Amino acid sequence: MAHLDVIRMGIIGCGGNGRGHLHHYLTHCSDVVQVVGLADPSKPAREEAWKMTGNDPAVKVFASHEALLKRTRPDAVLISTPHVYHTQQILDALAAGCHVLAEKPMVCSVQDAQAVIAAAKAADKVLAISYNRHTQGPYIYTRNAIQAGEIGEVVFVSCWQSQNWWAAQQGQWRQKMALSCGGQLNDSGSHLLDIVLWMTGLEPETEIMDGPLSEISGPQLALCRWGLFVKQFLYSGLFIQIFVPWIIYDIPWAWLRPLLSIVYVFLLNLVAVGVVHAVNPRLRIDQAMRYAGGVLVVAVLGLAYAAMMP
Ligand SMILES: NC(=O)c1ccc[n+]([C@@H]2O[C@H](COP(=O)([O-])OP(=O)(O)OC[C@H]3O[C@@H](n4cnc5c(N)ncnc54)[C@H](O)[C@@H]3O)[C@@H](O)[C@H]2O)c1
Repeated sequence: MAHLDVIRMGIIGCGGNGRGHLHHYLTHCSDVVQVVGLADPSKPAREEAWKMTGNDPAVKVFASHEALLKRTRPDAVLISTPHVYHTQQILDALAAGCHVLAEKPMVCSVQDAQAVIAAAKAADKVLAISYNRHTQGPYIYTRNAIQAGEIGEVVFVSCWQSQNWWAAQQGQWRQKMALSCGGQLNDSGSHLLDIVLWMTGLEPETEIMDGPLSEISGPQLALCRWGLFVKQFLYSGLFIQIFVPWIIYDIPWAWLRPLLSIVYVFLLNLVAVGVVHAVNPRLRIDQAMRYAGGVLVVAVLGLAYAAMMP
């Protein structure tokens, strides 16, 4: 693979996240990344992105990713679009000779995942997925500590992610299965699945991309609405639970949110440590209670801090 001193980069999808990447390219790594093109079917989105470049005439703007690939012939592209488009855009970019940084989730089915991985190998190009927690200090620190055996055997991992997507994403592509291919667990929640596996060094044994918990429809919609979007599973003897509730951040009374979050995190973790203890007696109940107490302290401090944020 040839070394590139400067990467000529195209951005496919100029929404909130695409513009976030653009901001970083323009401000933090303009010596190694030269943005050559922007593509988005939405005129306001691509114009907003172009404005960030100072309406630079060297940055070409297109309504489709095909036009961007053909006209600018970039070395690499960032793909930051609704999930259903990822597969075709990755395949098209690889076919056009580009390296690809694709946003998560990579694709929407196991079959598509296998297809894009095979295409990247055949093209001898880098296909990276933007699971950015791999580069963030707390996760690197924890991974190192786990892998060096510093914190002993890990028997329980608890993850929490809450965003106001029920209200904030009404009518948007994230709440349309045909475009998002899944609910919040499939979207920002997939960061948690990714990082737990990365930190613990575990490998997935089964790939399921369309389990009932990943959908927003029918009873699942109700589950999301009431903030009970909890995924708990036993994995190779390790108990992992992932909370992706929406409801708390949709409550109009801001002062109530931290309080409810504390109760929610505390109670759910308390239930969880009970389950962990039942299925894995290696976690003693006094350790479990200490853990629950620790969670409460961290939750109170973290959420008090969050409540003070504007
Ligand atoms: N890694 C992270 O932390 C992180 C954070 C936020 C979003 N994301 C991911 O980034 C992607 C985009 O999310 P977002 O928050 O920017 O959404 P967004 O709705 O703000 O932007 C999506 C953009 O894609 C455009 N688009 C739609 N169809 C297109 C097509 N066929 N070709 C090109 N552009 C098209 C839309 O017009 C819109 O401007 C998703 O995959 C999302 O999961 C990742």
